[in-house]
Amino acid sequence: MKKIMIIDGGPRKTFNTASMLKRFAEGAASVSEEIEVKTVRLYDLHFKGCMSCMACKLKGKASQICKFRDELTPVLEDIAGADGLVLGSPNYFGEVTGLMRAFLERLAFPWLSYNDYSITAPKRMPVVLVETQNGSAEYNNCNGYGSMEHCIAQALSQPQKLFAHNTYQVKNYANYELAGFSEEAKRKYRDEHWEKDLQHAFDTGRQMAESIMASTAMGC
Ligand SMILES: Cc1cc2nc3c(=O)[nH]c(=O)nc-3n(C[C@H](O)[C@H](O)[C@H](O)COP(=O)(O)O)c2cc1C
Repeated sequence: MKKIMIIDGGPRKTFNTASMLKRFAEGAASVSEEIEVKTVRLYDLHFKGCMSCMACKLKGKASQICKFRDELTPVLEDIAGADGLVLGSPNYFGEVTGLMRAFLERLAFPWLSYNDYSITAPKRMPVVLVETQNGSAEYNNCNGYGSMEHCIAQALSQPQKLFAHNTYQVKNYANYELAGFSEEAKRKYRDEHWEKDLQHAFDTGRQMAESIMASTAMGC
């Protein structure tokens, strides 16, 4: 079996980010029964960001997997042995959510060597970063995964990015103090783009699974 880990860093179980990740998972699973897709919702777990315990850098016992034990530990262990990784987050104030950031600290700090400043994960694998946001493709404040993108590129592979712009933030704009948004414009955009965004997520999932299966066939 080949494993794709999907990490959902958004709080809402059925909204934009979760929907994009669900479609990605469906696309990946459609390729082969040999592909296992596991989705983890960070908001369901009790964990902290890096505690700076430095256990991952102990002389003679350095580890590329975080040594601090909590509910994130099995997820980090799963990722270390996975064949593909997908991270999803809504844009919160130009960046990923706080929980996604906390997760990334735990994922990436053990990769970083303070001996030679190399950044190395236990295993390289394809990565997709999913971001959903209010902003449009042209006008957005998204710094996304920020400097963590560089760590991911060094340690795992250059990530592919998947966006959903100008998302519906609530089901019914009339019920909220959201006069700064035109629901009509939002609806028009959604009608034109949302299904395409979901299809793009499905196709990207399929492509990741196909490339994993192809490299398996080549004995990689
Ligand atoms: C706390 C918070 C901060 C946000 N900040 C931004 C932002 O800076 N830029 C942006 O384009 N959208 C921002 N948004 C909108 C969300 O990114 C957007 O609605 C996203 O699609 C929500 O994902 P979800 O439906 O999966 O929860 C923010 C939403 C919240 C709740």
